[in-house]
Amino acid sequence: MTSERFAEVDHWIARHLLPPDPVLDEVLKANAAAGLAAIDVSRVIGSLLALLCGLVRAHRVLEIGTLGGYSAIHMARALPADGRLVTIEANPRTAEVARANFARADLVKRIDLRVGKALDVLPGLVDEGHAFDLAFIDADKENNAAYADWAATLVRPGGLVVIDNVVREGRITDDLSTDPQILGTRSLYAAMRMDARFEATAFQIVGTKGWDGLMLARRR
Ligand SMILES: C[S@@+](CC[C@H](N)C(=O)[O-])C[C@H]1O[C@@H](n2cnc3c(N)ncnc32)[C@H](O)[C@@H]1O
Repeated sequence: MTSERFAEVDHWIARHLLPPDPVLDEVLKANAAAGLAAIDVSRVIGSLLALLCGLVRAHRVLEIGTLGGYSAIHMARALPADGRLVTIEANPRTAEVARANFARADLVKRIDLRVGKALDVLPGLVDEGHAFDLAFIDADKENNAAYADWAATLVRPGGLVVIDNVVREGRITDDLSTDPQILGTRSLYAAMRMDARFEATAFQIVGTKGWDGLMLARRR
């Protein structure tokens, strides 16, 4: 199977299972117009994130890595009216695009966008006393293990941590890799394996974003 076929099937699933969503289409157009890389989650993975929010009955969600807000919008929509999603974006210009998209999706009141490097922002969230039901980690892969460690503090027992890009076209198995993103994600696997605070698994995904995968970790 070719990557074109993976993408075709992904589009087919979206067309045959998910309702048309002009707002999400506009968000992707706005991202492209602003020159953002198309590295947001796919529509089907966005809907999976929303489903996971529902399954853990999420009221409070943490996202690390906002980009234009495509995944944040999926998750925020899955929250009750008094729910809140905190999303962290390091790049101020990117954050402005996301802010406009949150307004476009009528989610300004439900989404709290923090601009800064996640490792600088996360300690403040602990000080503010947040307890999240779900955390989605999708930023610089070099810091994945550190983000999982913060998530162990910030996510309530029984809550879920979802980490994107944990397969990277199979490059994750390369013992000789010197790519900092691969090394960061390999460190995540090593940390998760030893971390008694989590019960974790990971799986491969193919689709419009190629061949990659997600890690799911339940906070014990
Ligand atoms: C893969 S994109 C996020 C995609 C987004 N979750 C979605 O699916 O719509 C990664 C984002 O993380 C941001 N980022 C990179 N390093 C970061 C850091 N140290 N702290 C916070 N955000 C960071 C990047 O600027 C980029 O916008």
